[in-house]
Amino acid sequence: MILSAAKRLLRILPAAAFCVQVATTQASDVPYVPTPMNVVDAMLGLGAVGPGDFLIDLGSGDGRISIRAATRFGVRGLGVDLDDSLVRTARAAAQKAGVGDGVKFEARNLFDTDLGEATVITAYLLNSVNLRLRPQLFAQLKPGTRIVTHDFHFGDWQPDQKITIDVPDKAYGPPRSDIMLWVIPADFSGVWQWTLPGAGGDVRHEAQLSQKFQVLYGRAAAHNRPVLLADAQVRGDAVSFTLGDAGGVQRYSGRISGNTISGEVSLPGGGRSLPWQATRVRTGKMDIGVAGRGDRAQAVAAGSSIKEQ
Ligand SMILES: C[S@@+](CC[C@H](N)C(=O)[O-])C[C@H]1O[C@@H](n2cnc3c(N)ncnc32)[C@H](O)[C@@H]1O
Repeated sequence: MILSAAKRLLRILPAAAFCVQVATTQASDVPYVPTPMNVVDAMLGLGAVGPGDFLIDLGSGDGRISIRAATRFGVRGLGVDLDDSLVRTARAAAQKAGVGDGVKFEARNLFDTDLGEATVITAYLLNSVNLRLRPQLFAQLKPGTRIVTHDFHFGDWQPDQKITIDVPDKAYGPPRSDIMLWVIPADFSGVWQWTLPGAGGDVRHEAQLSQKFQVLYGRAAAHNRPVLLADAQVRGDAVSFTLGDAGGVQRYSGRISGNTISGEVSLPGGGRSLPWQATRVRTGKMDIGVAGRGDRAQAVAAGSSIKEQ
């Protein structure tokens, strides 16, 4: 009995040792540099962080972003960092600030973290790390989730908003910081149809929409005659655009749910508004670029310095 238990242990030990080795040799993708507190406050402001949000800070360092969000706005959240000692520091700081119940910190790789619960993501990482993260953000986050970064961007995915603030006590580089906001867009691509009442009966409309990140474009027709589709904008699950012809410009706005958009259209000449409902008759696929194909080795090599911008 004792002998067979010992044999089992001998079989398990090498595997356990391997796991410990893997856990302790995960290389940090980004060195630890804390975000100055005035930048933290500006990040929370740009992200419109408020009660009811669940904030995940990717690479949470000493926990300052999550703890500030919790103490100022009662926001719950999670911070993840590869560095065990920083995680312990963050936990202690959260306890001291009285927010230890609502804000958790875990020693784990951000790439192995399920982000689905987040309504807000914050990150002070590197461009190359953000690019590798991009597919994960689109796969796991709900439309409307805000992502706020300090200084580093997501390549050809343009931010929805960007501000620059002075940071006299910045630890490196020029004494200012860029703070950028991205909102995860819903996918509006595909062929949409709807009707509107016209003088001679219902007018059938059709729009063929393509989408790259939050940028929406395409063409449209009313009664099979081309009309000019312009000013298309997507923000989370909300869309707006105009259709124009010689008769004037219709302004559409609505929200998507599955294959339906519900909203309103304001008609030319006098601004009369009508309810609007469109149905997607053919689905498309939002283009989220090719960056971040999982080539981690290449990105780690590219992202070995905090100077990367
Ligand atoms: C520039 S610091 C930002 C710290 C904090 N978010 C702030 O703004 O003050 C980046 C942090 O990411 C952590 N980090 C680097 N690679 C990581 C990874 N793959 N998974 C989790 N954390 C990581 C580092 O240990 C470091 O604490």
